[in-house]
Amino acid sequence: STTRGFTVAIDGPAASGKGTISKAVAEHFGFAHLDTGLLYRAVGAKVLLGIEPVAAARALVPEDLDSDALRTPEIAQEASKVAALPEVRAALVDFQRSFAARAGGAVLDGRDIGTVICPAAQVKLFVIADAVVRARRRFAELTEKGIQTTFEDVLADVHARDERDMGRVDAPLRAADDAVEIDTTEMKIADAVAAAVALIEAKRDTG
Ligand code: DC
Repeated sequence: STTRGFTVAIDGPAASGKGTISKAVAEHFGFAHLDTGLLYRAVGAKVLLGIEPVAAARALVPEDLDSDALRTPEIAQEASKVAALPEVRAALVDFQRSFAARAGGAVLDGRDIGTVICPAAQVKLFVIADAVVRARRRFAELTEKGIQTTFEDVLADVHARDERDMGRVDAPLRAADDAVEIDTTEMKIADAVAAAVALIEAKRDTG
C-alpha cells in the first residue's frame, strides 16, 4: 500500500501542541500514533519507585505506558532527567523504529524523532510556541485534572525541561534540517492541525 512505512515525525518542546496535532493527524489519516514522551515518563515513574533507569528502560512493556497516570509534573521532570542518559535512549530505539515501520502509516511525536529515531520520515514537523504560552496551556491542563500547582511552578518546569532537553549531548531537542516549523503561539489548534494535514497530504500525493 502507499502508506506502508509512511512516517510522520513531530518534534517540539513541552506543551507546544505537538501531542494534540499528532493525535488529530493520526486520526485524520488512520495512522497509528506513538507519544514517545510516554516511554521516558514510564521510565521516570519507575525511577521514582527506586528502580535503576537503564534496567527500567530495558524492561519496559506496552502496559507501562498508561497515559493518564504518567502526566504529572514530577514524572515529567524525572522523564527529562532519565532522557539525558544515552543507555536509556538506546534501550528505547528499536521499539520506536518498529512502530514507525508498521503498515498503514505512523505518527511519532517527541524530541528526536526527525533527527535520530526516523531521519528518513516522509514528513517532519517541528512545533514550537512561546514558553509563557506553553506554561499557560500546561497550567490549565493540570488544573483541570485537579493537580495542585501554580503558574510560576509550571513555567519554571517548562524552562528547566527546555534547557535540559536542548542541552543534553545525546539526541538533544532540535529541528531536523528538513523539518517544517509550526509556531502555535498565536494559532488556533484547528488551524495548526489543518496546516499539518495539508503538509502530509502534499507529501502523500507526491510519494
Ligand atoms: O513529550 P513529553 O513532555 O511527555 O516528554 C517528557 C520528557 O521525555 C521530555 O521532557 C524529554 C523526554 N523525551 C525525550 O527525550 N525524547 C523524546 N522523543 C520524547 C520525550
